Amino acid sequence: MEVKLAECAGFCFGVKRAVDTVYEQLKTGKTIYTYGPIVHNEAVVKELEEKGVQVIENKEELLAMSPVAQAGSAAVIIRAHGVPREIYDIIESKGFECVDATCPFVKRIHKIVEKAGTEGKHVIIVGNPGHPEVEGIKGWCQGPVTILETPEEAENFVSKKDENICIVSQTTFNYNKFQYIVEIFQKKGYNDSVVNTICNATEERQRSAKVLAAEADVMIVIGGRHSSNTRKLYEICSRECANTYFIQTLDDLHLELPKAVRLVGITAGASTPNKLIEEVQNYVRINF
Ligand code: F3S
Repeated sequence: MEVKLAECAGFCFGVKRAVDTVYEQLKTGKTIYTYGPIVHNEAVVKELEEKGVQVIENKEELLAMSPVAQAGSAAVIIRAHGVPREIYDIIESKGFECVDATCPFVKRIHKIVEKAGTEGKHVIIVGNPGHPEVEGIKGWCQGPVTILETPEEAENFVSKKDENICIVSQTTFNYNKFQYIVEIFQKKGYNDSVVNTICNATEERQRSAKVLAAEADVMIVIGGRHSSNTRKLYEICSRECANTYFIQTLDDLHLELPKAVRLVGITAGASTPNKLIEEVQNYVRINF
């Protein structure tokens, strides 16, 4: 039986950069906070907690914190998904050092929507309204902004007459669905500027998971329960391979493989550390 890892799997560039930032900051001896969990992976967050990293869950919690007693003694790290502009202001007003680990690809979206706002454009964010990345992007819009994620919502969208629009997407949004939504706006005759801000890391991970799942007898998808990109990988793999398992850690894996299994494929979401992927790979190799 062969065990094969998808060509692209696990931490993407932005998440690796953010997690590395936390480890670097820990070396400084400051009190370290992250604004929200640094990645959508409970094991990683737990490991960091054990090293003293504290998570500020939301704006209310941040607002309720006492100002830093001694300048330079505590830092708040912004995670790869980014945050609304006002969060930076609150962090600084409390005297914390603000360490920005927003992924540069997300930062680019913040800049695009900020500029669009100054040009008087109505910003359309194609993405999941409940996702922190989308909330962050919204927090950089200075004028009208609409978040939508379905073709129906695009069909129903009505803006003020003669209003120019600027369309961006959540980095993890499905490319074909984004194109479809953009076409709806174009058919409706909007004067728009469209920036495809979907990140390649997502496309590559999805493409290589699909290729592997199509040839695998069993597919294992590793990632956090709350990670939207991992859930998408699971959806894609399930379509290609009926025996697809979604696991968070090795403990969730209860495989009983029939003898006929020739190939077990493994892929992992953008928040899954290499260490965990290797553990699963080794476990399957040794035990089956
Ligand atoms: Fe950045 Fe793309 Fe990852 S936007 S956080 S490199 S999925």
